Amino acid sequence: MKALVLAGGSGSRLRPITHTSAKQLVPVANKPVLFYGLESIAEAGIREVGVVVGDTAPEIQAAVGDGSAFGLQVTYLRQEAPLGLAHALLISRDYLGDDDFVMYLGDNFIVGGIKEIVDQFAAERRTSDVAARIMLTRVSDPRAFGVAELDEQGRVVRLEEKPSEPKSDLALVGVYLFSPAVHPFVERLKPSRRGELEITEAIQGMLDAGLPVHSTVISGYWKDTGNVTDMLEVNRLVLESLEPARHGEVTDSELIGRVRVEAGAAVHGCRIVGPVVIGSGSVLRDSYVGPFTSIDRDCRVTDSEIEYSIVLRGASISGVRRIESSLIGREVRITPAPSVPRAHRLVLGDHSQVQISG
Ligand code: TTP
Repeated sequence: MKALVLAGGSGSRLRPITHTSAKQLVPVANKPVLFYGLESIAEAGIREVGVVVGDTAPEIQAAVGDGSAFGLQVTYLRQEAPLGLAHALLISRDYLGDDDFVMYLGDNFIVGGIKEIVDQFAAERRTSDVAARIMLTRVSDPRAFGVAELDEQGRVVRLEEKPSEPKSDLALVGVYLFSPAVHPFVERLKPSRRGELEITEAIQGMLDAGLPVHSTVISGYWKDTGNVTDMLEVNRLVLESLEPARHGEVTDSELIGRVRVEAGAAVHGCRIVGPVVIGSGSVLRDSYVGPFTSIDRDCRVTDSEIEYSIVLRGASISGVRRIESSLIGREVRITPAPSVPRAHRLVLGDHSQVQISG
């Protein structure tokens, strides 16, 4: 079995939360979301991986290289424009040959990996005529997703892309298992209303032709939508199982719970309550860092307090009391506003008691 990882896209969609143009490189617990996908592909026993790239190819290639760091052999497949998920499959036809494959959207995060579903598909391919297996997850607003309708036996009967009146709350997750039977259906597609070759239409074509498409419903799923609340939540989830380590320098500090200080990081005079990860090259001084915080490489945190937040590479935070539920972009500088001279003018009656802050 091969894997096809979609890491294309134009990079033109302006995302407020990060300057990185390749959305697949948004970090979760200091690691690009794409890397979790590549790791779970390797963990499923797959070696040959085609990575579809677009305008952001240099950034993706610099990060992933030849794939050997993941135990993979990566081949880059250039898609001239993001013309749809099925278009990415179309341009990968020669690479895929007649192998079964898993198609993995590079900005998706599947909690628990894909080994089980890959094994299951490989086993059912040996014993049945199954043509594809899709992954589904329950969502509160299915209108923004590809939605599957199942029969009583749980077999897929119909797929709809972003329906205005969804038939179920089961949305397609960005991992699909295909036999080579998918290719003729992809080759037949015409661009949809949004001008893309839709993978949902190719799968619907398979269903219409009577090819069996199976499904697995999963619960742990996240897709990079640029939504900060979701990002903090997936970051929290990954930090829950963080391996604590003290590879960097730690002096005069209290580290509580699972705290990972990467090699080359330095922590002086801090109180850190895990789970927290601190990337290499970062220096933390006289600060408090609270649970579920990821501080990426080369950051500075001085005389500050931060909790339940993500700090991206090269950011610096100095003299700021309590940052919470925040995403701090790359190379951001945060400093306190110059303090305005303050005075309290008081007329207090006898026996008054007052509390004055600051
Ligand atoms: P998205 O642009 O999120 O694709 P989508 O059709 O799911 O988008 P939406 O529902 O938000 O409209 O892309 C998913 C992944 O696939 C992402 O990593 C970019 C990649 N991709 C390609 O490589 N080539 C393409 O042509 C498209 C559309 C996406």
